[in-house]
Amino acid sequence: MRTSVAIIGAGPAGLLLSHLLAGEGIESVVLESRSREYVEQRQRAGILEHGTAETLRKSGAGERMDREGLVHEGIELRFAGDGHRIDFAALAGRSVTVYAQTEVVKDLIALRLAAGGDVLFDAEAYEIVGVETDSPSVRYRHGGAEQELHADVVVAADGFHGIGRPTIPDSVLRTASREYPYAWLGITAQVPPSTDELIYCRHERGFALHSMRSALVSRLYLQVPADDDAANWSDEQVWNELDRRFEKRGWSLRHGPITEKSVTPMRSFVAEPMRYGQLFLAGDAAHIVPPTGAKGLNLAAADVTLLADALIEWYRSKDTAMLDAYPETALRRVWRAQQFSYFMTSMLHRDPAMDEYGARLQIAELDYVARSTAAATSLAENYTGLPRKSFQVP
Ligand code: APR
Ligand code: PHB
Repeated sequence: MRTSVAIIGAGPAGLLLSHLLAGEGIESVVLESRSREYVEQRQRAGILEHGTAETLRKSGAGERMDREGLVHEGIELRFAGDGHRIDFAALAGRSVTVYAQTEVVKDLIALRLAAGGDVLFDAEAYEIVGVETDSPSVRYRHGGAEQELHADVVVAADGFHGIGRPTIPDSVLRTASREYPYAWLGITAQVPPSTDELIYCRHERGFALHSMRSALVSRLYLQVPADDDAANWSDEQVWNELDRRFEKRGWSLRHGPITEKSVTPMRSFVAEPMRYGQLFLAGDAAHIVPPTGAKGLNLAAADVTLLADALIEWYRSKDTAMLDAYPETALRRVWRAQQFSYFMTSMLHRDPAMDEYGARLQIAELDYVARSTAAATSLAENYTGLPRKSFQVP
């Protein structure tokens, strides 16, 4: 089989890239090792930056998002028993949209298939060959047979455990990372949210986050030890712990049936370069952020928006300038998001090794963000997403 752009992975990165390329008449094939059902059920985060929502909307993939997504113009930072609103609209002139990654994935799959696009599920890529030549290819297993997909370029949008990154020789690949001594226990509950906006809460017992999926469904997270298991938590224990951490006078958390419970690990990770010959990395294949800044999906979307434009330019004019600039331009945003995610994570979580001094620094930082327009503006512009021009390579 032959195509123009071979894409490994039908996560948000691979699917959005395929969709954006199709909009300009560029052919691609997406290979996905999992089934369609699996990919559409996977629970992930749910905040779209202003720019991510715009990309989906402009490319014709924003219809359901505009109907069902919740536009939020701020968040609450809760600490020391009090709430402080960060007003995104006033500080950064932008908003975010609460719309689950799972829904974005469902929308993109439906659009690709309706347009006759090739998205092969249960198709596991096992080798990428010839990336140092003009005719790379991907070997994959599908329907019990081994097949080969030939292309002009290969994009590895195959997540953290994919085969794209390890295809780059060890002598070329550089990585930088941080591990955290905690994880998030996430729950979905059939109960209307107890708040209009997300609450990021710092508490002596650990971090908690109140998010939502709709006017009827709440999504909540608790900081737990890194090696914890969702099975260790009864529903009652979860609600008790959430009540304690979110405690604020005159406010109470609504409880309801829990329909999903799982532990998300926390990691910061960056791999360089994001291009090796005709192989390009995008999304989680190249970088991971802890979920506290809600940046994972948005970084994946930013990577492929940039890459799609570069590929479109290359096919149109044979000009390689944008493709050549991709690794450097993408990495600028990646490192901005790394810093912001690390900042949010370390300001809000209880590190088991943290002493009194560390705890007081966290409060001082939160207090500063809550009181200073300069500090709050920095949080607001990072959370809602910086414009593309701030990352352009001269
Ligand atoms: N062959 C085919 N598909 C593969 C292979 C392989 N060898 N290895 C991995 N995949 C698939 C996975 O099954 C997955 O569906 O690649 C896809 C990668 O998708 P994601 O993990 O969702 O990564 P990405 O598209 O970069 O999206 C990043 O996902 O993890 C979250 O927080 C992260 O929101 C961010 C987003
Ligand atoms: C979510 O709704 O799942 C969510 C929201 C904000 C985050 C992380 C996850 O920072």
